[in-house]
Amino acid sequence: MRTQVAIVGAGPAGMLLSQLLHLQGIDSVVLERRSREYVQQRVRAGVLEQGTVDVLREADVADRLEKQGHPHHGVNVQFDGDRLRIPLSELTGGRSITVYGQQEVVKDLAERRERDGGRVYYEVPDVTVEGVETEKPVVRFTSEGRVRELHCDYVAGCDGFHGVSRTTIPEKELTTYERVYPFGWLGILAEVEPSSEELIYSNHPNGFALHSLRSSTLSRLYLQCDPNESIEQWPDDLIWEELQTRLGTSDWKLREGPVIDKNITALRSFVSEPMRYGRLFLAGDSAHIVPPTGAKGLNLAVADVDRLARSLTDYYHHGSTTGLETYSEECLRRVWRVQHFSWWMTSLTHRFDGPDAAYDRRLQRSQFDYLRSSTAAATTLAENYVGLAAV
Ligand code: APR
Ligand code: PHB
Repeated sequence: MRTQVAIVGAGPAGMLLSQLLHLQGIDSVVLERRSREYVQQRVRAGVLEQGTVDVLREADVADRLEKQGHPHHGVNVQFDGDRLRIPLSELTGGRSITVYGQQEVVKDLAERRERDGGRVYYEVPDVTVEGVETEKPVVRFTSEGRVRELHCDYVAGCDGFHGVSRTTIPEKELTTYERVYPFGWLGILAEVEPSSEELIYSNHPNGFALHSLRSSTLSRLYLQCDPNESIEQWPDDLIWEELQTRLGTSDWKLREGPVIDKNITALRSFVSEPMRYGRLFLAGDSAHIVPPTGAKGLNLAVADVDRLARSLTDYYHHGSTTGLETYSEECLRRVWRVQHFSWWMTSLTHRFDGPDAAYDRRLQRSQFDYLRSSTAAATTLAENYVGLAAV
């Protein structure tokens, strides 16, 4: 088999890249380890920056997003029951975010690629990437019992944190940076009308909680928990009790309803540099992870892919390799800005135990008061939250 760009991973990064390239007349093949059903039912974050919506529109996959997504012009930060609304649009010259589930983005992309005859192979467990330091990379895999060899010009590693692409780069070529947080998030999807029109990030002495939503009948809620706890240790009653405690205020209560999905994810920050090795380009979670506070993971993946698609287009249409050569450096500037913001939002809103706990909590209170009293401080949060246009 032959293609111009072999794409490993059919998450949002891989599928969006395939679609953006298709619109430019560039051929790609996508190889995904899991089944299509599995990829599309994975519940992930749901906040799209304005720049992300713009790219999805450009990719011509935003019809349903425009109908069903909810634009938000503000976000709430709460500390010990004091709630502060950050007026995002007012502070950023009218920019906003859109709440629309990541798996819906993936569904829209997969449907679109299918309609256009895109080659996407699901349930391909054994992808190997070879020869990316030569002019002729080869990707090998087995599909429906047949061993295949895919010859290509470039390989895009869009296969997430646990993928194979990054591991094919010799260790000595990479520098990795990592921070593992001593907590996780327990997330639930509940069939109940959201209790607030806007998101609420709450820091309570018991720990962090987040109120988010998916639609007028679906709420998405999170609790800080021990990352090693099993979900069985959290019966629904206990989850609601803890959410009420951490999110409630003197005059506000959370609506409760049937829980239809629940899971626990550990929090981590991770960057692997550079994001290019020969003819292999990493994009999205395969190169970097942020903790979900601020919901930047998908947005960062889209920013990488947008840049990669433009660079490949420059190469195929104009013979220019400048974009490909500067890809890693340009992406990493945004990656580190977002690393900082996600770490900062996490530090402000979570419970930290240990010898410095009392001191840390005082710092959090001070930062919260500063957000409340200073337009400059609130603007810093707002412009990062809606997404910086240029970094
Ligand atoms: N071969 C083929 N596919 C693979 C392999 C492999 N060896 N390893 C992993 N994959 C697939 C995964 O099954 C997954 O579908 O690659 C895909 C990677 O998708 P994501 O993990 O969603 O990563 P990405 O597309 O970069 O999107 C980033 O998704 O993980 C969230 O929070 C993250 O919102 C962020 C966004
Ligand atoms: C979500 O809606 O799933 C969500 C929202 C905001 C976050 C993380 C997740 O920071």
